[in-house]
Amino acid sequence: MSYCCSNCGYSTPRWLGKCPQCGEWNSFLPVSRKEIKKERSSSYSSPLSLAEIKEKNLQLGNRFSTGLKEVDRVLGGGVVEGSLVLLSGDPGIGKSTLLLKIAEGIAQKDKRVLYVSSEESLYQLYLRVERLGIDYNPPLFLLSTNSFEEAREGISSLQPQVVIIDSIQNLGREDLEFLPGSVATLRDLSSRFMEIAKKENIALFLVGHVTKEGTIAGPKVLEHLVDVVLYLEGNANHPLRLLRSMKNRFGSTQEVGILEMQEKGLVEVMDPSHYFMGESRFTGVGTACTVWTEGKRAMVVEIQSLVHPSYFDFPRRVSLGMDLNRLHLLLAVIEKNTRLRFSRQDVYLSMVGGIKTSETALDLPVCFSLVSSRLNREIDKGTVYLGEVGLSGEIRPAPLLEQRIRESARMGIKRVVASSYHPKDFSPDRFGEVTLVGYSNIKEALEKEGLLG
Ligand SMILES: Nc1ncnc2c1ncn2[C@@H]1O[C@H](COP(=O)(O)OP(=O)(O)OP(=O)(O)O)[C@@H](O)[C@H]1O
Ligand SMILES: [Mg+2]
Repeated sequence: MSYCCSNCGYSTPRWLGKCPQCGEWNSFLPVSRKEIKKERSSSYSSPLSLAEIKEKNLQLGNRFSTGLKEVDRVLGGGVVEGSLVLLSGDPGIGKSTLLLKIAEGIAQKDKRVLYVSSEESLYQLYLRVERLGIDYNPPLFLLSTNSFEEAREGISSLQPQVVIIDSIQNLGREDLEFLPGSVATLRDLSSRFMEIAKKENIALFLVGHVTKEGTIAGPKVLEHLVDVVLYLEGNANHPLRLLRSMKNRFGSTQEVGILEMQEKGLVEVMDPSHYFMGESRFTGVGTACTVWTEGKRAMVVEIQSLVHPSYFDFPRRVSLGMDLNRLHLLLAVIEKNTRLRFSRQDVYLSMVGGIKTSETALDLPVCFSLVSSRLNREIDKGTVYLGEVGLSGEIRPAPLLEQRIRESARMGIKRVVASSYHPKDFSPDRFGEVTLVGYSNIKEALEKEGLLG
């Protein structure tokens, strides 16, 4: 017999009143060794040599589409049969909405889908179905329960190809002493679901909640076990949602899906640059265009600054969507390299469109936008700025430069201001129609581009 903390999973051979790992009181419950053994010896068969495996011509399960291209892209080309996918994200960000849309998309391809909700009643689910205008004809089934046994029964009787469990934290098992959501329950249920997925060749989507710190509740238990971990991110006050994969056993984690929350649910943003820029460009004083990359995708976006005399002894520095420390650093670099002063100015910096990024390649557009607003001088509307600015004011090349230049050319912006140093394999001649202007430091760039002096 050993004891396991139901809060953090710490295990000890003796019962303890207080957990030494997470500090929780009265959280230790007994776990029998038999149970642990059973869990470990799940479904491993005898070992095979590589040659034998080749001969057997083993293959991954087939892939099928979710009906949303942005989701398929993140999954590596669609859902793999018999895979276990964990979807996580902040409360109210749209996990259930996304999964219902996926369920509809898959059911429309004549695959049977079971949506098990442990958080909402059937009527609540129905209201969402109505609101999102979900198609009634395809084989999509709903079940509201917080018991694993009932969910299991539903799966056995319906024999679906896809099952959605929303959420695993609210599900419990009758003969388990631990509360739903505790680490021991999560461990138990996730290995059971894994077995169902692999043995019955069902693609399973699990919703996992995040803790205050933003990690999936339960110390990595779920992440280790599942095949794919997806995060739905976004700002509750903005409709933009990004779907990322943190782990994918069937594809790259470099892909990102871009979605927008609308009245009718989550809609794909197929052309992000057009989404962020629109048809008209608002560039002028304080607004600089750049190309933001997220995973493998490049998108033209705008960065805006407002520099205004301060009424306080300590001027304000506000940064929306970018790291505030980076803003402080860039202000210091500009002050050191030019005669401009910001010490009596409030500075507001914003990434347009609800984007959050920590990309250093956007330093150069940030500097241009700050100086433009400080001096009330317009920035050229047909130019894209790309480059990292170092502490001594030098401009370094942006990673994925080619991709960024191609994207800006696609959006009709044919002038690029960047670093004069190029990566080894980079040849500017490849971009015939694009004019590439390179500068070695921020002072030279600001002067020659007509903002300073
Ligand atoms: N009647 C409505 N009209 C428009 N939008 C709505 C409506 N009801 C909900 N929403 C949107 O859907 C979001 C909730 O989506 P959803 O329930 O899918 O989130 P969730 O991530 O599953 O939340 P939870 O963590 O509570 O399960 C809300 O934040 C809101 O933006
Ligand atoms: Mg939900």
